[in-house]
Amino acid sequence: MCGIVGFTGTREAAPVLIDGLRRLEYRGYDSAGVAVSDGGTVNMAKVKGYVKNLSEITHDGADLKGRIGIGHTRWATHGAPNDVNAHPHLSSDGRFAVVHNGIIENYALLRQELTGRGYKFASDTDTEVVAHLLELYYDGDAKRAVMRTAARLEGSYSLGVLCSDGRLFAMREQSPLILGLGVGENYFASDVAALVPHTKNVIYLDDGEFAELTPDSVTVYDVLGRAVEKPVSRVTWDVEAAEKGGYEHFMLKEIMEQPACFKATVEPRIKDGRIVFENFDLTDEELHGINRVIITACGSASYAGQVGRYIMEELCRIPVSVELASELRYRNPIIDKHTMLIVISQSGETADTIAAMRECKARGARVLAIVNVVGSTIAKLADHVIYTWAGPEIAVATTKGYTTQVAVLDMLAIYLADRLGLMEKERYDRLVDALHAMPGQIQRAIDLNRNIGRLAKKFCRHNAIYFIGRNLDYAVCMEGALKLKEISYIFAEAYAAGELKHGTIALVEEGSLVIALACYEPLFDKTMSNIEEVKARGAEVLAVALEGSRKILSKADDVIFVPRTEPVFNPIAQVVPLQLFAYYVARERGCDIDKPKNLAKSVTVE
Ligand code: F6R
Repeated sequence: MCGIVGFTGTREAAPVLIDGLRRLEYRGYDSAGVAVSDGGTVNMAKVKGYVKNLSEITHDGADLKGRIGIGHTRWATHGAPNDVNAHPHLSSDGRFAVVHNGIIENYALLRQELTGRGYKFASDTDTEVVAHLLELYYDGDAKRAVMRTAARLEGSYSLGVLCSDGRLFAMREQSPLILGLGVGENYFASDVAALVPHTKNVIYLDDGEFAELTPDSVTVYDVLGRAVEKPVSRVTWDVEAAEKGGYEHFMLKEIMEQPACFKATVEPRIKDGRIVFENFDLTDEELHGINRVIITACGSASYAGQVGRYIMEELCRIPVSVELASELRYRNPIIDKHTMLIVISQSGETADTIAAMRECKARGARVLAIVNVVGSTIAKLADHVIYTWAGPEIAVATTKGYTTQVAVLDMLAIYLADRLGLMEKERYDRLVDALHAMPGQIQRAIDLNRNIGRLAKKFCRHNAIYFIGRNLDYAVCMEGALKLKEISYIFAEAYAAGELKHGTIALVEEGSLVIALACYEPLFDKTMSNIEEVKARGAEVLAVALEGSRKILSKADDVIFVPRTEPVFNPIAQVVPLQLFAYYVARERGCDIDKPKNLAKSVTVE
């Protein structure tokens, strides 16, 4: 949901900013813009569409002179995606340029007030009020104007403010913002991906804080303008991790990275054959005090939670529900100190997930977050954090983010079952051995399906695709269907196979495509019956089954095989060919795979 960048140094700012925007483009790609200055005039360019359009009209930034600047890539919330609504936005006197990620919730009132004071608005955005407020409160000191403006804003924002006197500010309230510390130059950005080409030393701003940057200094202030000491953190991954590395798309690269990401997430947490979490240390009393688990998340992260629910209930014999964060937050949920809330988020910045988490925490739940982005809001707010070490995920559609979330949930379920005295040693050891083997199994799931492009070609013209499965298979169907619809724009939906007869089967007709997941062996025969039923109504069936399963060959029209793992880990191997299938279908259909229409990666607005 919008990416912002800022730079101050002794070289030209615009090329640095545009490069940063390219790295943040996954956050939104409706328009892009930069404003730069040397102290004096502010030079600005902004344009609808991708960052490459901005790059073209400015000759990679060479046309814009100035060594201090801010930049923005937009996912439109207020106002159509066009040149005028593109950021930066200027104050009427041209003194301030502003870029913004988030939503100023009281913008309508502020706009009314400012209009009453004679300010003219050029755009339909909520952001423009910030530029005019800065002008209103400017009395010769830009820092004071920033503080007074912040005091008027409600909602969520990370803001970059460039003042024509050459001062540069970054402000944060409930939206990610990270400062990068260079040598003779300093930066800010919505995500470390834009900082790592320049520096690995970063400061994570907290809500209510703002910073002033010069080429030689970064000063962080609290809401009252008092300087605060902030720890400097070191980013652990290299710039290559956030580049395509020879792949046509980030999504394909990220699918292929999954064996390594699984290993990075799991291996460091197995010590002498035991699962150990670095930041999850409940006493026995606390553990036995938990009487239910709620998993909350959005989108794919919630589907990872669905897998986790089946496994945790099976192994830990504790009631687990999965709640969409956007629903949970407004549902007056029944929660107390005996509830363990598991929050799952790749970005750690999803607005609904954060809100649901705050709501449940306020009611006494103990919060464990499973998060990928270090230093993110969810990681900061949780009582315990288990990081998924997937590295930067750039493609909008998550792949390695999801599988590493499932990996952590698997480990957590085994860990809790053991602590609760519900797992025999033999089974524990077998599952831990199987965890070690999983990177190889994920690789095998990739290798077995090298020719999945053929199936994608065959099925890419369908208008609707139904995914069916039972138990863990059903949980994986949800993710398979989401992957397909979000990047190929084919209607795809997951159905519990046993529910077909209660309505959905009415949709099945001659030529319909049903993708049937049949890896959950205890219910294999039931799923076979469902396959028969849809075939009897003319559907073509593409099945996903375990290697060696022969019966499926006589029932399905085509089969995707996945390796046989410990049953609780099957979903991880199963989802990989579904990701690949979605990828190749989208490719056949000429879709913009890494930047699907209407989407953005980090959903920092409600
Ligand atoms: C789909 C996808 C989204 C995210 C969802 C939550 O491919 O990526 O559905 O899973 O927006 O995002 P995070 O995990 O960042 O909270």
